[in-house]
Amino acid sequence: MCGIVGYLGNGSAVDVWDGKCFTDVNASGVDARDGEFFTGVTSEAMPVLFDLLKKLEYRGYDSAGIAILNDENGEIRTFKTEGSVGDLISITPELGGRIGIGHTRWATHGKPSTKNAHPHSDGTGRIALVHNGIIENYAEIKDKLIESGHEFRSETDTEVLPHLIEEYYDGNLESAVRNALSMVRGSYALAAISVDDPGRIVVARKDSPLVIGLGDGGFFVASDVSGILKYTRDVVFMNDGEIGVITDAGIDITTLEGVSVEKKIETIEWDPEAAEKSGYEHFMLKEIFEQPDTIRDTFSGRISADGIDLGVALPNVRRIVIIACGTSYHAGLFGRYVLERFARIPVDVEIASEFRYTDPIIDCGDLVIAITQSGETADTLAAVREAGSKGSQKLGIVNMLGSSITRECQCLLTRAGPEIGVAATKSFTSQLACLLLLSVQLGKARKTLSTADVNDFVYELKQMSGNIQRVLNSAPDIRKCATMFADADQFLFMGRGANYPAALEGALKLKEISYIPAEGFPAGEMKHGPLALIYDGVPVVAIATKDPVYEKTLGNIKEVKARGATVIGIANESDTEIAKYVDYVLRIPDTDPWIAPVLSSVVLQLFAYYVAHHRGCEIDKPRNLAKSVTVE
Ligand code: G6P
Repeated sequence: MCGIVGYLGNGSAVDVWDGKCFTDVNASGVDARDGEFFTGVTSEAMPVLFDLLKKLEYRGYDSAGIAILNDENGEIRTFKTEGSVGDLISITPELGGRIGIGHTRWATHGKPSTKNAHPHSDGTGRIALVHNGIIENYAEIKDKLIESGHEFRSETDTEVLPHLIEEYYDGNLESAVRNALSMVRGSYALAAISVDDPGRIVVARKDSPLVIGLGDGGFFVASDVSGILKYTRDVVFMNDGEIGVITDAGIDITTLEGVSVEKKIETIEWDPEAAEKSGYEHFMLKEIFEQPDTIRDTFSGRISADGIDLGVALPNVRRIVIIACGTSYHAGLFGRYVLERFARIPVDVEIASEFRYTDPIIDCGDLVIAITQSGETADTLAAVREAGSKGSQKLGIVNMLGSSITRECQCLLTRAGPEIGVAATKSFTSQLACLLLLSVQLGKARKTLSTADVNDFVYELKQMSGNIQRVLNSAPDIRKCATMFADADQFLFMGRGANYPAALEGALKLKEISYIPAEGFPAGEMKHGPLALIYDGVPVVAIATKDPVYEKTLGNIKEVKARGATVIGIANESDTEIAKYVDYVLRIPDTDPWIAPVLSSVVLQLFAYYVAHHRGCEIDKPRNLAKSVTVE
C-alpha cells in the first residue's frame, strides 16, 4: 500500500544515521550512497525523508519519490524513480531545504513507472503533492481541467489534485486544498507544499491513515507511526475529514468545513517492529482486520446508483474458464456459482497447474479469467498464455498492478493492497468481491438480472464492509472457540453451494498456518467417503448460513453428529434453530446468501489464526510455503 511522508525541520539537528539505514544495494547492484552524506545529525529534510521512506518499505511499493521545498531560494525540486528507495537515494543529488514530502507508490491507476510515481505537480512546478487512496471522480475532473488548459503528465488519479489546487490557489495553500477536496470523491491521505506559500505542509485525510509526529527536530508526517518512532513518540492521529497545516508555530487542524479541531497528543509505546504491524502481533492478523477498508477500496468508484461499472470491456462469450492456484482457485470456485447464477454463463474452473495437460478445448468464444493475487504465479501465467495462443479472450483479476499477468491481458484490480502474510486473507475477500461485481454487471448486461434484483443486491454489497467489521468485533468469541480445538489431530470443513468454496478455503487456511491436517468437502458428499474420517470428538466446521440448501446442510450436520463429531457451526445472527444441531456457534450478520460466504471466510481466517497462534506456529511465514510461486 502506498506510503506518504513529510518533514518540516525546525533547524535543530536530528540524528538520522543508524549505521545501516542507507547501506542497501540498488537495482544496478551499486551501494546506494552508503552513508556518503548521511553523516549522523542533520537539519535538512532530505535524509530524514529517505529514512522515513525506508521505514515504510515493508508496506510494499513499486516506485518512490521526494520533493524538497527550499524556502530560502523559493524552489521545489522533485526526484522520482520506478524502483526502490535505495534507487531513489542513488539518483537524487544533495537537495538543500528543511521542508519536504515523499512517497512510496503501490500502483492502482496507471502502471508502475517514473512518470506515475509521486510527488505530482500542477505543471508549473510550484505545487507538489503526495497522495494515498483513490480519487473516484478523477476522470471527469481531468476532462474539465484539460478543457481549461491543464496538461497532464501521468496516468494517475492523483494528478488531478495538484492541478485542482493550482486552479483554486489565491495565495493560501490551505484554502486551495480545502476547495480542491470539496470537488473530489474517494479516499485520501495527502501532503502538499507550495513555493508560493513556503514554510508549511498542508495535510488532509479521508479513509486513508495519516499521523503527525511532534519531535525536537520538527514535525514528521507519515502513513503510519513505524517511521516516526525513531524521532518521537508524541503523535497526533488525523481523523477523516480533517485538514492540517504544519508550520514552525505548530499544527493547526480544522475540519473540511473550516471548524477548528482540538487534537490530543498521544504517546506511542510500541516498539518499531510492532509499529510496522500497527500494533498487531502478525501481518496476517493486521491484514484480516484491514478487510473492511480493502473491501471498500475494491468497491470504490465501481458501484453507483446506476448499478455496477468495472471499467473493463466484457466480451459477449459462450463460456467462461477460470484459471487459478491455491486460495485464488477457491475464489474461482466461488466465481462459478455467482457467474452461473447471475449471468447465466457456463463456467469451468481449472487448477492452473493442470490446465495445459488436458489439452484444453478453447477458442475465441471463451473468456479465460485468471485469478491471482501476485500476478506472477508461473502456472497461472503459463495457462493464460496457452489459452491466449488458442484464441481465447482473457481477463485477469489481479492484486498487483504491473505484475506479469497485468501485461498479458486486461485486468480488474482487486485493490486489496500489499499482502505480506504468506496465507492469503484480504486478497481472497477482494477476489470474491470482484467476482460478485462482475457477475452482477454481466447479469444486468445480459438481462438475466432485473433492475430491481440489481438494486437489491447493490444495497447488500454496500453493507459488506460494515458486516465484515461486525465479524471482526466478534474476534474474542472466535478466539475462545478456536483455542478449545487447538490440539485437535484433524479438522473437517463442510458447506454446500457457494459455502463449499468457503469451506475449502477455511481448511486451507488452517492447514497452511497450524499444520493440522484439514480437508474441506461439499456437505452432501460426506456420505460418499469422508464420513469414514469421523470419530468421537473430531471437530467438523459446518457452514450453515441461511440459503436455499440450509435444511439440507442441517441434515448433513446430523449425519456427522450421529457418528460422534463435535460440530462448530457458522450461522446467521438471526438463526435461533442452529444451536439445537451443533455444539458451538460462530455468527455472521444476516445478509444475502451470495455474500454470506465472504463473511464466513473472515470467521474462518480468524479461526485458523487463533488455532495457529495457540500452537505457537510461525504464522506469517509458514514452513515450506512461499507468497509468490514463480516456478511451475
Ligand atoms: C502460493 C501462496 C498462496 C496463493 C497461491 C496462488 O501458494 O502461498 O497463498 O493462494 O500461491 O497465488 P496467486 O498470487 O496466484 O494468487
